[in-house]
Amino acid sequence: MTDSTLPRHIAVIMDGNGRWAQQRGLARSEGHRAGAGAVCALVRECRALGIPFVTLYAFSRENWQRPQTEVSFLFELFTRFVREELPGLLEQDIRLSMIGERTDLPFAARRAMDYAIQRTAACRGMVLTLALSYSGREEIVRAARALAATGLPPGEWTEESFRRGLYDPDLPDPDLLIRTSGELRISNFLLFQSAYTELYFSPGLWPDFDAAALREALQSYAERRRRFGRVEDDRDRHGEGDAGGSGQ
Ligand code: FPP
Repeated sequence: MTDSTLPRHIAVIMDGNGRWAQQRGLARSEGHRAGAGAVCALVRECRALGIPFVTLYAFSRENWQRPQTEVSFLFELFTRFVREELPGLLEQDIRLSMIGERTDLPFAARRAMDYAIQRTAACRGMVLTLALSYSGREEIVRAARALAATGLPPGEWTEESFRRGLYDPDLPDPDLLIRTSGELRISNFLLFQSAYTELYFSPGLWPDFDAAALREALQSYAERRRRFGRVEDDRDRHGEGDAGGSGQ
């Protein structure tokens, strides 16, 4: 792998915390706690590799339907993670960002996120985005509403103007989407942005996703030819071409 074969933006669906705990006879919360450890390791590894954007699906809008105790535990975990990792983020020059329905978040989590986002705003080494209370379909509906509210006639709407209504219009499309735990679904994550994203499904459970597992995902990505719907061309390796076209 060389710098030119590394993805610029990695998005991750971190799945399998519950099963990891169950296999060990532990409470689901222990799986989430172990999952938080895997998050810290992944962020460090990506930063060391020089990957500029990492986006983690931490809590979907559908996840609100989980038992209240699990939801509370998860938000306490996110809040603690953001507070305790803030010095590390600053030291690694990592900017924290968020996509999703910010106003859905419990007050303490919202306050911790807002604070860490503001404190890391000037960091330039990497952008770490947490998707919290996130739904790809909801994001698309919001963007459509925002565009309609501008008064621009629908005939003049473009992909670019639509993008301005996304949670973070400056977040580039993911080059690589990793999902752990062997499930083969996108589960409402980054639906608009993943039109040409390379998908990688890892059989292991999220808490076990380590540097070696990341390396395997990156190796798989490095071997792919990205065509963006066009006839193959040498430039199409590793995302050097432009997105667009109607093919696969
Ligand atoms: C999916 O596994 C995981 C979640 C819904 C929560 C993701 C949260 C973490 C990885 C914890 C730490 C995150 C941060 C950002 C500090 P699951 O519970 O659905 O697992 P299962 O499918 O095996 O039940």
